[in-house]
Amino acid sequence: MGFAARIARTRAAATFAMAARARALRDEGKRVISLAIGEPDLPTPDHVIEAALAAARAGETKYPPVGGTSALREAVARKFARDQGFRLSADEILIGNGGKQVIFDAVMAVIEPGDEVLIPAPCWAGYLQIVDFAGGIPNFLPCASSNGFQIDTAALDAAITARTRLLLLNFPNNPSGAVADRATLQDLATVLRRHPEVRIIADDIYEHLILDGEYLALASVAPDLSNRILTVSGVSKSYAMTGWRVGFCTGPQNWLHSMAIVQGTSTAGVSTISQAAATAALDGPQDVLVERRAIYRRRRDLVLSALAAIPSLACTQPQGAFYAFPSIAGLLGKTTAKGRLLKNDYDFAEALLEEALVATVPGSSFATPGHIRLSTAASDDALAVACSRIIDFCTTCR
Ligand SMILES: Cc1ncc(COP(=O)(O)O)c(C=O)c1O
Repeated sequence: MGFAARIARTRAAATFAMAARARALRDEGKRVISLAIGEPDLPTPDHVIEAALAAARAGETKYPPVGGTSALREAVARKFARDQGFRLSADEILIGNGGKQVIFDAVMAVIEPGDEVLIPAPCWAGYLQIVDFAGGIPNFLPCASSNGFQIDTAALDAAITARTRLLLLNFPNNPSGAVADRATLQDLATVLRRHPEVRIIADDIYEHLILDGEYLALASVAPDLSNRILTVSGVSKSYAMTGWRVGFCTGPQNWLHSMAIVQGTSTAGVSTISQAAATAALDGPQDVLVERRAIYRRRRDLVLSALAAIPSLACTQPQGAFYAFPSIAGLLGKTTAKGRLLKNDYDFAEALLEEALVATVPGSSFATPGHIRLSTAASDDALAVACSRIIDFCTTCR
């Protein structure tokens, strides 16, 4: 007895696989530093945890409305007014189990088998999983590191075909850290105006983790396109709430309505306790965002200056999020101190884990071979030790 074809065509996320390998080595007593998973090491703020406890004690323990509690949807509408400049009512918001479910709902709502989804690469591994699951055809648009991993808008225009139904944008980008400035967003909008059949998901989950430059929402730069842009964000990365599983979005009513059908079919909505916590995060003091941004900026600088000591590694400066995405092309074809031949980024990440006890993720998982991604969301001490291990590993390859 077999399983549905959608299971076979959907690959597991390499980030979770590498994190599991790192855990297994740790269980064997090895002192592994895991920079594999994209999750803040900092704690969820206390007032958020208190709000969750209070909600549980107050009896907020029943099924939630599928699209989110009105308290959280109102808080998200206020947040979108504050950060994106959108004027929304609560019924223009959908809450999902993390940004991941929101994107899943959105793709499942619009993609028919065989439809093309255009994805600038490097890109988050979750997009490929979701598009594969939906039966869509991912069409990756490579973005050059020499151009700071920015999208070449002429190439984007040329990559849109008669079958393209969706464009997945992500700034700040996981894994490259690229942020689109106003001029780039305007150029993107100009291209998209020529292709009225293409919907856009603007995945702005790292919106508060801008380390250089400023955050701008595509729908605020091009409001005339807002009838086909879904703006996605959430509390996971900004407020260190990955385990609470709360994401949200706004977009055209018909898209939100279709997404609610997907969500209502797969789950009865998001934990009421988590929604109370997310409401407190969004309505509470926002200085935590500024403080944490400074921490992530310091860590980015620490990692970049350490990696600069390795001549065979080239790293573009990430402008946002909490990753570094160096090219390891200069080391491919070489042999490690323990005799492993580095044919590709998988070999590199594997050897770095086995020999130097640092877990990273191969760039191929982000549709960009020849690179590795390391998360900088770890303590300064862990990052310093990891970097010195990476330096030793790379400089002893022959
Ligand atoms: C670009 C991007 N989008 C969406 C998500 C999903 O976030 P969440 O934890 O809220 O589901 C992630 C998580 O790593 C991400 O990197």
